[in-house]
Amino acid sequence: MTSRSTAQDLDRDDPLAHWRDEFVLPDPDLIYLDGNSLGRTPKRTVEAIRHVIEQEWADDLITSWWENGWLDMPLTVGDTLAPLLGARPGEVAVHDSTTVCLFQLVNVAIDLSGGSVVAVEATEFPTDRYVIEGISRIRPGISVRHGLDDLTGVDVVVRSHVDYRTAAVALLAEETARAAAAGAITVWDLSHAAGVVELDLDGAGVQLAAGCTYKFLNGGPGSPAFTYVRSSIVETVEQPIWGWFGQRDQFAMDNPFDARDGVGRMLNGTPGILGLTGARCGIELSAEAGIGAIATKARALADFGIDLADEFGLECSTARPPVSSGGHISIIHPDATALQERLAERKIIVDKRDPDVLRFGLSPLTTRFVDVFEGVSALAGMLDA
Ligand SMILES: Cc1ncc(COP(=O)(O)O)c(C=O)c1O
Repeated sequence: MTSRSTAQDLDRDDPLAHWRDEFVLPDPDLIYLDGNSLGRTPKRTVEAIRHVIEQEWADDLITSWWENGWLDMPLTVGDTLAPLLGARPGEVAVHDSTTVCLFQLVNVAIDLSGGSVVAVEATEFPTDRYVIEGISRIRPGISVRHGLDDLTGVDVVVRSHVDYRTAAVALLAEETARAAAAGAITVWDLSHAAGVVELDLDGAGVQLAAGCTYKFLNGGPGSPAFTYVRSSIVETVEQPIWGWFGQRDQFAMDNPFDARDGVGRMLNGTPGILGLTGARCGIELSAEAGIGAIATKARALADFGIDLADEFGLECSTARPPVSSGGHISIIHPDATALQERLAERKIIVDKRDPDVLRFGLSPLTTRFVDVFEGVSALAGMLDA
């Protein structure tokens, strides 16, 4: 039987263990297994946001838009994120919410495809489905099809790279190519992949993608999302939310709208600088730690958690080889709500997706093997009792 000391040994040998020191951890007894929803607080974020408020905002005031790089921050932070996605400089912008980015990209994909049928899994994350349904409501002729097995007649596919329930990782290159062979453009949602799975958007032939920065990238609550547009198509892209930040000459106030070059054309209004500051700090941390090492630890944490769940006889719906999994394991139980509350009473924070999924988030820069052991064994103990 796997014991706590097995987990302690794994933590001792973990090359990423010291990155926990980069985070604010006010309660040493708290076992936090929800970094797949909201990553923990980097110490450098606290300092950076204080600096932005006390110096750049309070003292430098309006000049900060030019002198402190605020105007271009969605693009400079995008360039910092790009290597973590396997993207090139100039292909990523950090702005708005994932929902807004998806709305823009699905419209772009429909226009690029010249078609009208958008396919999505019926089990896809709600916002993705809502965005498509909302677009079909305002754009005459656009129809929504559920299911991705048969892509005949489909023009646009919207799908997550990592499933938010099972953590199953879809094959990025193969599935992008399968859709392309059927004549469809894929808009990838990378929310559960960015910062925990090694990505190669360039090599996989991805054209359009979006995702959030507040989960595994530890950007902070509501930190802005990102949009990826492949450089080879970006100049042909016309997105639907026109605003002055997407305008070629932003301060030529009388000009008609003329989209700027590059991924900057996806921007619309004034970016939230405090949120972007959090996103930048979290992204920098992941870039410094290295996405290869992060992804390796995520797999090790998942394997450890799945094996433990099996040993304890828990029902674990997390994808298993040959399908690989992302940064959480999912345990199925009809009393998920009550169990989540009972775990919280013991200072073990997990999250839940109705009706019966308990998700144990595995955030490699902060989650220890011992946290996974405590979480899974505590749950098993409650079910035995
Ligand atoms: C897969 C997925 N897509 C989209 C979203 C929504 O993102 P946002 O709230 O930034 O619009 C989430 C949020 O958790 C998500 O998990």
